[in-house]
Amino acid sequence: MTACLTHCHRSLALLVSSYKESHLQISPVEPTRMTQDQLKQAVAQAAVDFILPKLDDKSIVGVGTGSTANCFIDALAQHKGAFDGAVASSEATAARLKGHGIPVYELNTVSDLEFYVDGADESDEHLNLIKGGGAALTREKIVAAVAKTFICIADGSKLVPVLGAFPLPVEVIPMARSHVARALVKLGGDPVYREGVLTDNGNIILDVHNMNITNPVELEAQINNIVGVVTNGLFAARSADLLLLGTQEGVMTLKR
Ligand code: 5RP
Repeated sequence: MTACLTHCHRSLALLVSSYKESHLQISPVEPTRMTQDQLKQAVAQAAVDFILPKLDDKSIVGVGTGSTANCFIDALAQHKGAFDGAVASSEATAARLKGHGIPVYELNTVSDLEFYVDGADESDEHLNLIKGGGAALTREKIVAAVAKTFICIADGSKLVPVLGAFPLPVEVIPMARSHVARALVKLGGDPVYREGVLTDNGNIILDVHNMNITNPVELEAQINNIVGVVTNGLFAARSADLLLLGTQEGVMTLKR
């Protein structure tokens, strides 16, 4: 009986293998590709791992705005006891932090901010950024200015050779909209009013298409000099110090 079973197994195995050879094309197994959301979660976790050993119960963390920053908030919330609280770059971020039970401080009451962690719409290899896709650019720029270390977290699609494929957001006092738009045209751009959006500061956004951004530091200053502009989404005068980039090969770190 045992011999028969063994013999039957062998015959079945032979049958299966000859069937596979004649009917199936076996292709090499593709490694699973991470989705954009998974890449965002990976860089968010990498940022938490980077700052955590440097935090203590008095530390306050600056937190940015957007889907990648949201992943960072969710990962940071797992370590609530390791720091005191956060400063938020938008009302949406403040609400998410509070939802996790993380105390949110007004920036004016905070004298020492070691880290600011935020996403970006684009980064070049020098860590000059375009930000403001979520209309929070002014508060983001203020918190970044105060922080000692600005850590930018982004999925790999955000790294570009030259900034500007993403339209450059400019926050504008509402009554200056047409004046600023004309000045932006003179600088070579095509400004488009972001319909239905008011910033947390009560202002409007012009998204500037087709801008030639070969000198981001100079262009940032030029645009900020237009009367009626609150600020623009170029983070070049104060670029990021560290870029954590989520790629299929793992999290890459770029330093200035
Ligand atoms: C908001 C921002 C965001 O950092 C930027 O838009 C990137 O967002 P996301 O992480 O959702 O891609 O500047 O004003």
